[in-house]
Amino acid sequence: MARILIEGGIPLSGEIAVGGAKNAALPIMAATLLCGDPIRLSNVPRLNDVETMQKVLRALGGTVAWEGPHEMAITCDGGIKEEAPYELVKAMRASFFVMGPLLARLRRARVPLPGGCAIGVRPVNIHLKGFEALGAKVSIDGGFAVATADRLQGARIHLDFPSVGATENLMMAATLAEGTTVIENAAQEPEIVDLADFLNAMGAKVQGAGGPTIQIEGVRQLRGVSYRVIPDRIDAGTFLVLGAMTRGPLVIKDAQPAHQMAVIAKLQEMGATIDVQGDRMTVEARGRLRGVDVKTLPYPGFPTDMQAQITVAMCLAQGTSLVTETVFENRFMHIAELVRMGANLNIRDRTVVINGVDRLIGCPVSASDLRAGAALVMAGLVAEGRTEVGNVFHIDRGYENLVERLARLGARISRLEEPATPPDHSRR
Ligand code: EPZ
Repeated sequence: MARILIEGGIPLSGEIAVGGAKNAALPIMAATLLCGDPIRLSNVPRLNDVETMQKVLRALGGTVAWEGPHEMAITCDGGIKEEAPYELVKAMRASFFVMGPLLARLRRARVPLPGGCAIGVRPVNIHLKGFEALGAKVSIDGGFAVATADRLQGARIHLDFPSVGATENLMMAATLAEGTTVIENAAQEPEIVDLADFLNAMGAKVQGAGGPTIQIEGVRQLRGVSYRVIPDRIDAGTFLVLGAMTRGPLVIKDAQPAHQMAVIAKLQEMGATIDVQGDRMTVEARGRLRGVDVKTLPYPGFPTDMQAQITVAMCLAQGTSLVTETVFENRFMHIAELVRMGANLNIRDRTVVINGVDRLIGCPVSASDLRAGAALVMAGLVAEGRTEVGNVFHIDRGYENLVERLARLGARISRLEEPATPPDHSRR
């Protein structure tokens, strides 16, 4: 098991490059199942979740290979299987995104129901209801979601919640359906727009992505394409918050600033200054940040994937802050760890009340999910003394070379790979 060791309190400054968006690359990789031609993707981040999606595509019969540091070649020609492997879908919820493409391509799909995770139960009812609306017969069989259809028919689908994954799964399924599909109350995240742009590059007819209503006119076939994935707005947002916390100046390049206006606005409200020049953002803060209130919402609201990170910034800010999590029911696993570092936090239902303190004290902490892990690393960077972050595998799912990039900014940080110690059964 790996751990990250940090000596906190070192001022950070310099320049970091943002990687490709994990949450765009994963659905786009799933969408390659929609056609049999060779596809080339660029700006794909080297993350564990991306490697898992590669394994899923190979298990389904696709050929997938890295062709460069961030370039990938995928061909899902002939012999595509209808059943996704149980252990891989359990390992990564986003594997469920293959259900829409398999149903569209093969007219049947058998995909394990993804389990919940630390942040919530995360059901897929909205996905399954949408497949039924498209004319599929859907059932649950031994932990698998099973869908079959003679032919998918375009339909008007209203989502109970603007689910990112459901919007993506249904958009992909609808590209090869007969007739026109309208998805209402669709998710509006930039990753939805990136998937729609990828599908249209393959010859699909998707309109309205990025807004609440998406229209997809079914086509008979899609073709191979080369495509570049957008920058990761959560990777960029994480470093924006870090730059504000550590005063900076921190330059974040290869970003798409238009995708993180909510985070930029909130940090400016806290007293940071953020200068945007093209794909570069320079963040700095003179003096202590001010505490503010935040409520996470579907895009373009403040992203839930930035909730843990902004909470850390508020732990040391002046005054009292409220952070309300409206998207997931259990995304406060980092709070107890921050309290152990000396933060003054209380949870009231779905809101954390944060009373700013003058300092955090380093100690051993454990990551519970991807973004909580990143937040604990950020806390360690500003805490006094030494912090050890455990369960680093969570962080590896969504941040490429996080330790190396932080070290380049001046952080005293290292990664300790420890062999998994066999359980000690000896009687003491
Ligand atoms: C995507 O997850 C992202 N993952 C998540 O990022 C992100 O936090 C989330 O969207 C919200 O923005 C990927 O894109 C791979 P949802 P997804 O469906 O699609 C409920 C990260 O850190 N819901 O929008 O699973 C659900 O329980 C990850 O990179 C249903 O009730 O999120 C949740 O409360 C974490 N029924 C809410 O909707 C459904 O059928 C939002 O979920 C589907 C969702």
